[in-house]
Amino acid sequence: MTNVAVVGAQWGDEGKGKVVDWLSERADVVVRFQGGHNAGHTLVVNDAVYKLSLLPSGVVRGKLSVIGNGVVIDPWALFDEIDRVRAQGVDITPETLRIADNACLILPIHGELDRAREEAAGGGRIGTTGRGIGPAYEDKVARRAVRVCDLAEPETLRFKIDRLMTHHNALRKGLGATPLDGEKLFESLQALAPRFAPYVAPVWRVLDEARRAGKRILFEGAQGAMLDVEHGTYPYVTSSNTVSGQAAAGSGMGPGAVAYVLGITKAYTTRVGSGPFPTELFDSVGEGLGERGREFGTVTGRRRRCGWFDAVMVRQAIKVGGVDGIVLTKLDVLDGMDQLNVCVGYELDGQVLDHFPAGMDAQARVTPVYETMEGWADSTRGARTWADLPATAIKYIRRVEELIEAPVAILSTGPDREETILVHDPFAD
Ligand code: IMP
Repeated sequence: MTNVAVVGAQWGDEGKGKVVDWLSERADVVVRFQGGHNAGHTLVVNDAVYKLSLLPSGVVRGKLSVIGNGVVIDPWALFDEIDRVRAQGVDITPETLRIADNACLILPIHGELDRAREEAAGGGRIGTTGRGIGPAYEDKVARRAVRVCDLAEPETLRFKIDRLMTHHNALRKGLGATPLDGEKLFESLQALAPRFAPYVAPVWRVLDEARRAGKRILFEGAQGAMLDVEHGTYPYVTSSNTVSGQAAAGSGMGPGAVAYVLGITKAYTTRVGSGPFPTELFDSVGEGLGERGREFGTVTGRRRRCGWFDAVMVRQAIKVGGVDGIVLTKLDVLDGMDQLNVCVGYELDGQVLDHFPAGMDAQARVTPVYETMEGWADSTRGARTWADLPATAIKYIRRVEELIEAPVAILSTGPDREETILVHDPFAD
């Protein structure tokens, strides 16, 4: 059994799309297990560009694609995405897409609340994607969420909506928004129910069958370890567990379901939204990384903050996420730089730390301790073998591996599938 989980090892946007697509070609089943349509995975297949937010990347290749119970689903966004991807010639059927009956829904009230809160927070805002992710997960753990299975039970749906509205209308009052009548929501969800029904399944069973039949399962993570609601830079995080442990709980499988965890890691660091970022650069070097790396968000179009590679943060992400090997991406963005800094520790009140502290104030105040390395003048873009790489680039990679205490399993040297150096095949374990 060689199931693989792909997770981000930084703050998301590490380049998971290409890797997931590359692996999904060889997988039988692709599963999303957390997050929602806050994710943005760009796939380039035979020159066609697919932008996916909620659908597992396997749909593009006709693989069995599963939206697990750990995902929060905006039904309108889901069907928009299905229509959009279908219009590009992709066949999406109940045979290829299965949606967990016990997954929770994102409703219009969640998006509204998310955006209203952000607006009210002023300088304290998290910088969310505004998709309603946080409020939807809040309702889930508070046990008042509307779930996919409720669409098949009108009485339950009405009961759930009434309860939900009692809570939300009190909140809305506090925010100065007009109270809402649940009837309209009930009707619009009822109207969607027949469209949903053919795709809905107890996906834990679908996955159990796949597992027993010896199928290869790929768990597709969204966001990154430092956005994990527990292990990330709380409260500047997303509202789900983004680490690989969630692959099991978020899909209905046991912890032994994942044989290999691949952590996607950019050769430098980026972040969108607010929150601490010790190695952030505010100068022309940071601007250069952003320009060469085309660092704009796929979902919101926001400019990403850029900085040096933070080995301490990635090492921590590797430990808490059980990462077996990394995919190092966008090395070519560092081409032509004389010197490169890598963060090897943090200084706080005269002490050097070998990990990222948990406290919000401490996280904001740490300053990076850098190790400076020689850069390389030649291009690494499109390299297919180690022999194509400058010696100093190899030295950089080797030092990164040493610092993060994990090997590079795959080196991605450009956006095309062929621009890849495979060191270790994660499906071979
Ligand atoms: P939310 O997930 O919309 O609640 O946003 C919370 C934080 O996670 C914000 O800083 C977002 O910018 C960040 N975030 C959410 N999804 C992604 C993603 O797919 N890539 C990178 N950052 C993300």
